[in-house]
Amino acid sequence: MENYILKGNLCYSEDQNHIRLVPNGYLVCVDGRSAGVFETLPERYAALPVVDYGDRLIIPGLTDLHIHAPQFAFRGLGMDMELLDWLNTYTFPEESKYAEMEYAQRAYSQFAAHLRRSATTRAGVFATLHLPATEYLMRELERSGLVSYVGKVNMDRNSPDYLREKDACTALEDTERWICETKDAFAHTHPILTPRFIPSCSDELLRGLRELRERYDLPVQSHLSENFGEIAWVSELCPQAKFYGDAYDRFGLFGSDHRCIMAHCVHSGEEEIERMRENGVFVAHSPMSNANLASGVAPVSKYLARGLKVGLASDVAGGETENMFRVMADAIRDSKLRWRLLDQSVAPLTVDQAFYIATLGGGSFFGPVGTFAQGYAFDALVLDDRRYPTGMVSSGEGYELDAVVLDDTALDHPQELTLRARLERCIYLADERQVHAKYAAGRKIF
Ligand code: GUN
Ligand code: FE
Repeated sequence: MENYILKGNLCYSEDQNHIRLVPNGYLVCVDGRSAGVFETLPERYAALPVVDYGDRLIIPGLTDLHIHAPQFAFRGLGMDMELLDWLNTYTFPEESKYAEMEYAQRAYSQFAAHLRRSATTRAGVFATLHLPATEYLMRELERSGLVSYVGKVNMDRNSPDYLREKDACTALEDTERWICETKDAFAHTHPILTPRFIPSCSDELLRGLRELRERYDLPVQSHLSENFGEIAWVSELCPQAKFYGDAYDRFGLFGSDHRCIMAHCVHSGEEEIERMRENGVFVAHSPMSNANLASGVAPVSKYLARGLKVGLASDVAGGETENMFRVMADAIRDSKLRWRLLDQSVAPLTVDQAFYIATLGGGSFFGPVGTFAQGYAFDALVLDDRRYPTGMVSSGEGYELDAVVLDDTALDHPQELTLRARLERCIYLADERQVHAKYAAGRKIF
């Protein structure tokens, strides 16, 4: 693997409360990992090629810890519904289309192309229950250069006839075949066990998934405590479980001896929070989705203070965009509303915390990922924040913007901003148009 150096304005989390800024710094890549950040380049690296990104910002790649690939095609629809109605009206009919390879190929190619071009370098991805389509998605994600875990979804009960596995036994056979076909097939794309959520998985299916997890040493991803209707339904379906997360834990699918992502955790009680901490469960915080589906706002700063592992997620199509900058801004904004309107005991999220969960917090699911400290995987975004297109420049309508800003060297603000201010503006204003270059695990994606 090629070794090289990136030069630019480096911004990365040291911990959840501190972003380190190194203007005109050097970030050294050796064997796909960071060999460290330097203000002046050490002699021992003098022979390596330097890619000089000038005045641009360089930040760690963003991790989307929970995204539904088959929902990308209908993002933005049904956003006036709550979870269970939205699943029945939009999600399940759309996911059933992935039985057809022609549709799956078109939709998944688009999804992978968008994700490749986005600010996301790593992702935890849900597919559908269909094997051929899921394997196609994995090939496309591998081709994109991203690093991902992808799950064939399991659902054998409380689901429509047109989107349900025949029975637990068939579901488990299919899942095992899929594991065997994909576990060593790719360099950067790996299978992850994916029971959709408790309401759609029978006990027999969950028992079998635990066996597969142990046999193949796989991580797990699912949904948890997202919506009041869903939570009430789980307590009816599993009266023996002490809380929603306990229903997974009883089947050995809730962390502890394996890596586990639980999306949402909006309404987790004290016992559930404590179990997640003990078991090292990763919370995939999905603020955009939680607002769209009127689920609520998770107390993220409380989770961070308690020592839970927290990453950030778009949850497309609960969230309407894969743009993780937007999700960061939503996380901060929604936490402020929660604090103002609901609970002053949980502080709003700071910019540093939002940046942390989008980078190091979620990245840690993949190992040493999400910052530039020595030894961490070399995932980086080069951001060009000279201007933020607004659509106003099409001229002829009396706007003066053309004359004012569209000089390639000018910034779209009237005075010099500090590096910190430029980073904060990226979080609120950037999308894939600001992503000038992207690296994952040491490889240049574009
Ligand atoms: N719970 C079960 N399935 C889903 C899904 O597809 N999206 C969301 N947001 N929650 C779920
Ligand atoms: Fe989801």
